[in-house]
Amino acid sequence: MKLNKLKIGKIETPGNLLLAPMADVTNLAFRLLCRQHGADLTYTEMINADALLSENRKSLLKGLSSSEDRPFGIQIVGSSPEKLRKAALFVENEYRPEIIDVNMGCPVQRITGTGCGSALLNFPKLVYEIISELTDALKTPVTAKIRILERDEKTLEIAHLIEKAGAFALTVHGRKAEQMYSGSSDFAVIRMVKSELSIPVIANGDIRDEESAESALDFTGCDGLMIGRAAMGNPFIFRRIRHYLETGEKLEVDRQAQQLEDFETYVTLLEEHDLFSSLNLRMHAHWFTKGLHGSRQIREKINNLKDGKAIIDLIKSSCK
Ligand SMILES: Cc1cc2nc3c(=O)[nH]c(=O)nc-3n(C[C@H](O)[C@H](O)[C@H](O)COP(=O)(O)O)c2cc1C
Repeated sequence: MKLNKLKIGKIETPGNLLLAPMADVTNLAFRLLCRQHGADLTYTEMINADALLSENRKSLLKGLSSSEDRPFGIQIVGSSPEKLRKAALFVENEYRPEIIDVNMGCPVQRITGTGCGSALLNFPKLVYEIISELTDALKTPVTAKIRILERDEKTLEIAHLIEKAGAFALTVHGRKAEQMYSGSSDFAVIRMVKSELSIPVIANGDIRDEESAESALDFTGCDGLMIGRAAMGNPFIFRRIRHYLETGEKLEVDRQAQQLEDFETYVTLLEEHDLFSSLNLRMHAHWFTKGLHGSRQIREKINNLKDGKAIIDLIKSSCK
């Protein structure tokens, strides 16, 4: 039995499998689906602090969370301690999330160009200021998500500062920002961070199946695992990994039937929460039908369908 409880602040989850924050992916419907399959804690995609403070925030926040979506974390992105504090106080009040996470790892130019995401890692003092500002102002536990740096000392310096500033947990994606998604996640660096901190450390990067999950936990000694890309179109991964960590055995599943069933549930959840958008659905359809027989045709047909029922009928008929 390798599935351990995870305690961050006051919340304690029965297991330690987390769904990563992912822009355009981890909307409420997808988070609920991952939760049904055993994700212990999920995060919203990053939300820009400026946007949260703007007049148009209503559309941005439509369907952000629901009462079944617990425990969940809201991830914010920004570079001004003051704006991040105001944005965090707003979401704390409005949604009462269990966690507020700060994105300090996004390597995309649109984000780093404004000094946010992984660009923050070049300014340790600012990292400390941001986390202190938030931990002083909020009742909600604050966590941070980082990438590793060129030199191990720099990674450790940032990790220590985040802990010292009062963060309740730290997630480390074991790639440098310059790598984007190339190469592989460096679990040795994650292990080093884990060995130096007292707060929970969550390992992230390249956890894609039962074996990689088990070895990441064993090797790093981390308190939890965060899973991103492997869950896209495949939320069932949480059930598989969970089962394996609990029993040492693998679940036998008909992958095609499972993916289609999950996609159907995803469509239903989108409709239930009034989140239906053809663009979003096309993207998810792409992931959910990956590797399936006739997937190209299914995706092409979905492009012409406008409502959930028609899409579900199409999925069912493709399954026969
Ligand atoms: C489509 C996509 C969107 C992402 N958006 C975010 C985000 O909003 N915030 C964040 O901290 N990381 C984001 N990430 C990074 C993931 O959270 C995660 O750190 C990364 O994918 C490595 O984990 P994995 O190998 O399990 O995918 C994103 C990744 C992908 C693929």
